[in-house]
Amino acid sequence: MKILGIETSCDETAAAVVEDGVRILSNQIASQVEIHARYGGIVPEVASRQHILAIIPILKQTMAEARVTWDDLDGMAVTVGPGLAGSLLVGVNAAKAIALARGLPLTGVNHLEGHIYANWLGNHSVDFPLVCLIVSGGHSDLVLMRGHGDYVVLGRTRDDAAGEAFDKAARILGLGYPGGPAIEQAARSGAASLKLPRAWLKGSSDFSFSGVKTALLRLVEGGKVSLSASHSSELPSQADAAASFQEAVVDILVTKTVAVAKEQRVRQILLAGGVASNELLRKHLVENSPIPVLIPELVLCTDNAAMIAACGYYHFQAGKIDGLNLDVVPSLRLG
Ligand code: KG4
Ligand code: ZN
Repeated sequence: MKILGIETSCDETAAAVVEDGVRILSNQIASQVEIHARYGGIVPEVASRQHILAIIPILKQTMAEARVTWDDLDGMAVTVGPGLAGSLLVGVNAAKAIALARGLPLTGVNHLEGHIYANWLGNHSVDFPLVCLIVSGGHSDLVLMRGHGDYVVLGRTRDDAAGEAFDKAARILGLGYPGGPAIEQAARSGAASLKLPRAWLKGSSDFSFSGVKTALLRLVEGGKVSLSASHSSELPSQADAAASFQEAVVDILVTKTVAVAKEQRVRQILLAGGVASNELLRKHLVENSPIPVLIPELVLCTDNAAMIAACGYYHFQAGKIDGLNLDVVPSLRLG
């Protein structure tokens, strides 16, 4: 079964063709990151206009790279939420138009569910029950899955999402946007020498990252970190601060995820979402988990449409087909 997936929830216009939920025939992504970097964050109006410009060229490229015609497709999968309304609308309308014109079945996919299904791409042997840590720009969720489409959210962030915390810390440290890759890059030449607090929220599987972010801000405002590029003072450097922040966030994510997985007696831990591309997080989770860990390859962690098509395949298997009245749900939740 060949599925064309479309993802336009945020600032990437993406399309992909995936066979049987596991084999990627093509996976195209047009990123707007350079446009939004000028503003230090995503400008929703600009994002939806860019999606309109990019969607048809991306669809053409995707079909050409996959070497498929419209007749070869068996279904359409598209992200319906959560995300920016104006951005989601572009993808959903494109998917509906194709479904109508070609008589293809259509299924709406939750973006977070899509992130989880990135783990099926490449035909990993995923084993239920499992716990998935989804860490993206908008979410930090710990989800129990006992089967396809069965989600129980065991914990979520009470304030900033992990990716959002990285983005805010990068801004505090004068590093670029998006913050996650900028912090990771800076941290490579630093040492985690700053003492930053960890909010353990004992007895709960929720996360909180605002305390560690505020502690970093106080140190920078108090002149306890040297932000100059030519680092020569006795103070911890920008790189040391980046390394310390990254270590604190990774420590919280790994410790709480492993604890929940043990508690739930699951067979596997899955990692998903943009922050899952962080090298330290990937390494620490694997090293500290007694349970097997699956992590998508880097390009499948950040927003893409292959994960949406993979998830769509399991929707079709379960008979989840939407009509042409399918609409965007900007604040859609999982479970
Ligand atoms: O999943 P994603 O691409 O988009 C959303 O659904 O939000 O995640 C984007 C988030 C951003 O906050 C970005 O800073 C973060 O993922 N991110 C990272 C890394 N790469 C992206 N955070 C830490 N380390 C990275 N290498
Ligand atoms: Zn995402």
